[in-house]
Amino acid sequence: MTMDFADRVTRVEPSATLAISALATELEAEGVDVVDLSVGEPDFPTPENVVEAGKAAMDAGHTGYTTSAGILELREAIAEKLADDGLEHGPEEIIVTPGAKQALYEIVSALVEDGDEVVLLDPAWVSYEAMVKMAGGSLTRVDLSAFDFQLEPALDDLESVVTDETELLIVNSPSNPTGAVYSDAALEGVRDLAVEHDVTVISDEIYKEITYGVEPTSLGTLEGMADRTVTVNGFSKAYSMTGWRLGYFAGPEELVDQAGKLHSHSVSSAVNFVQHAGIEALQNTDEAVEEMVAAFEERRDLVVDLLEAEGVDVAVPDGAFYMMLPVDSDDQAWCEGALEDAHVATVPGSAFGTPGYARISYAASEERLREGIERLAEEGYL
Ligand SMILES: Cc1ncc(COP(=O)(O)O)c(C=O)c1O
Repeated sequence: MTMDFADRVTRVEPSATLAISALATELEAEGVDVVDLSVGEPDFPTPENVVEAGKAAMDAGHTGYTTSAGILELREAIAEKLADDGLEHGPEEIIVTPGAKQALYEIVSALVEDGDEVVLLDPAWVSYEAMVKMAGGSLTRVDLSAFDFQLEPALDDLESVVTDETELLIVNSPSNPTGAVYSDAALEGVRDLAVEHDVTVISDEIYKEITYGVEPTSLGTLEGMADRTVTVNGFSKAYSMTGWRLGYFAGPEELVDQAGKLHSHSVSSAVNFVQHAGIEALQNTDEAVEEMVAAFEERRDLVVDLLEAEGVDVAVPDGAFYMMLPVDSDDQAWCEGALEDAHVATVPGSAFGTPGYARISYAASEERLREGIERLAEEGYL
């Protein structure tokens, strides 16, 4: 039988980051020692008290469905966290999702339909493009690579593409894959354009807790942005909870109501006991988060120094745990070669819309980072 698949799925590719990880896993299964710098997850265990809270919630019988938007106690804890960041949202303006990815999917699906224009800042996280394409939207991309991945110097370029036809703009600071944290002036520039052209903005703040000496501003706190910004965050990165699948979005009630329909008809709710663990993560992990961030900062410095010693300059990231390594213009071939010859896994920049780079994740031990850079140098990849 030949199945006739919907355009919405045939027009997108599978996630490139997951594809590289799969290839690396395959090599490992063959006994090859791969230094995997392709993964987008912290290498720390989930903090013990969060694990205990999850277990306790299971033991207490929190194993049934919850209200679709998520348990009130967690939404209240999220509201408190957002208030600390200067964002005013009541629990009725928050939906708890199985991961931030699902939150983004629901928002994009609720806002974008055939032909709608969506603006991305490149390089951009791989799934934004797929989500917009699945919704039928068309993409306009602004390349930040000439500006050390900063947005402020690219505001003129952004201005030239944002029009009254623009439906949605997606901003991700700190950024995956660049680690860039956008300045307040850059965010104010976004605000001015969004207000002028009546554009809705997604502020994906999933790396907000992972920064080095800078304090990222939440876009929704800027004057004029409260009623046009949807703030997305999650537990995967800050609390090392990737496999728990927990995230959320907060925005204008109207949008939350519409996206909430998608939520209730698809996932019903996030997992009950995971939501209980989420409360613990928000309220009692300051120390664990601080320790993880300090380790990431040390690793960032180490990788920057090691690369510098090899004569490679990178744009030093202020957040997240990624950096972009300038490589050959055929970055796909470079990444495949680096994996096959040096057994080092990275992700091609073209997967993020910016060829000529490879994304390195430094969420790996110092020993593995040293080993990875050494191998790349030895095999002539630096
Ligand atoms: C920029 C960005 N947004 C959202 C996500 C989704 O995270 P999760 O679904 O694990 O919460 C990721 C994960 O890699 C990401 O890098």
